[in-house]
Amino acid sequence: MANDNNKHEIDQVTGIETTGHEWDGLKELNNPAPRWWLWVFYATIVFAIGYWAVYPAWPTLTGFTGGSKNWSEYSQLKEHQGEITAMRAKYEARFTAADLKTIQNDPELYEYARAGGAIAFKNNCAACHGAGAQGGYGYPNLNDDDWLWGGTLDQIYTTIRYGVRSTSDQTRISQMPAFGRDDLLSREEIEAVAEYVQKMHLGDKAEKTATYEKGKEVYANNCASCHGETGDGNQDVGAPRLNDDIWLYGGDRASIINSIANPHAGVMPTWEGRLSDSTIKQLAIYVHSLGGGK
Ligand code: HEC
Ligand code: HEC
Repeated sequence: MANDNNKHEIDQVTGIETTGHEWDGLKELNNPAPRWWLWVFYATIVFAIGYWAVYPAWPTLTGFTGGSKNWSEYSQLKEHQGEITAMRAKYEARFTAADLKTIQNDPELYEYARAGGAIAFKNNCAACHGAGAQGGYGYPNLNDDDWLWGGTLDQIYTTIRYGVRSTSDQTRISQMPAFGRDDLLSREEIEAVAEYVQKMHLGDKAEKTATYEKGKEVYANNCASCHGETGDGNQDVGAPRLNDDIWLYGGDRASIINSIANPHAGVMPTWEGRLSDSTIKQLAIYVHSLGGGK
C-alpha cells in the first residue's frame, strides 16, 4: 500500500491507522489481510504449480500439457473397459465353445447368458416384442407358454437365428390360405367357421347353434390340417392354438373373420449375420428363461 513516509493519522473511532487515502472526507483504514490468510494464499500458489506439473493443465497450440502422470478420464475409462473385457473374455471363450445344453447346466454361463441376452433383447427385439417381451398386436408375447414355433431352447434358438417368413434361406415358413381374398370359402362359410373358432375354447360348453355346426364342418375340412382337430395348433407350421383365449390378431368376431379372410403372415427378421452366434445363444437363453420356456 501507499508507503509514503508521511505519518498517517489514526482513526478516532476504531483506533486504526488510515492509509492516507481520502475521498470526500471518507478515509480508508489500513487493515492488512490476516497472516493465516496470507499463508493459505501462498500455499495455493505452490499447490497450483505442483498440480500443473503432475496433471493435464494448460492448453497449447496442439493440445494441452499432459503433466508427468499423463492422466485423463479417457485413459481411466479405457483402463476400466480393459478390466471388463478381460472379465468377459474369461466367459466368452467358454461360452462360444459351449452348446445350449451345457450353458443351461452351468450356473455361471447361464447367468452370463441371461444378463447379456437381456441387453441384446432391449437393443434388437423390444421394438417389436415390447421392452418386457409382452408382445402386442401381431407380435407374440414371449413370457407365456403359448408358442407358435415351439418353446424348447433349441426351437427358440432356431426361430431367432433364422426368423419367420424372413429373407434367410432356412427361415421358418408356412402360409395360411387366404380363404376370403382368394375366394376359397364363401362369406357365410367364413362367418360360420369364425363362430366355431371363437367358441372353441369353451369346448363342450359352447352353445351349438346351426351356424356353429356348419362352422365345425368347414373347420374339419379346411383348417384342422394345420390348426389340429381340436384347435391345439401345430408348431411345425407355426399355426397358432385356436382353443385358448390368446390371440395374436384379436379375438373379437370381426378380427377372427379378418384373420381367416386375409391371413397376416407375420414376419420375424433373421438375426444370423446381424448378431454373433454367441449373442443369439444368449438371446435364446434369455427368452427361454422368461417364464414360458419348455
Ligand atoms: C420387426 C419385428 C420383430 C423384431 C425386431 C423381432 N421379432 Fe420376434 N417375432 C416377430 C413376429 C411378427 C413374430 C411372429 C411370427 C409368426 O407369425 O409366426 C415373432 C416371433 C418370435 C418368436 C417365436 C414366438 C413363438 O411363439 O414361437 C421368438 C422366440 C422371437 N420372435 C424372438 C425374437 C427375438 C429374440 C428378437 C430380437 C433378436 C426378435 N424376436 C425381434 C417380429 C419381430
Ligand atoms: C396351411 C396351414 C393353415 C391352414 C390350412 C389354416 N391356417 Fe389359420 N393360421 C395358420 C398360420 C401359419 C397362422 C399364423 C400366421 C397368419 O396369421 O398368417 C394362422 C392364423 C390363424 C388365425 C389367427 C390366430 C390368432 O392368434 O390371431 C386364425 C383365427 C386362423 N388361423 C383360423 C383358421 C381357420 C378358421 C382356418 C380354416 C378355414 C385356417 N386358419 C386354416 C396356418 C393355417
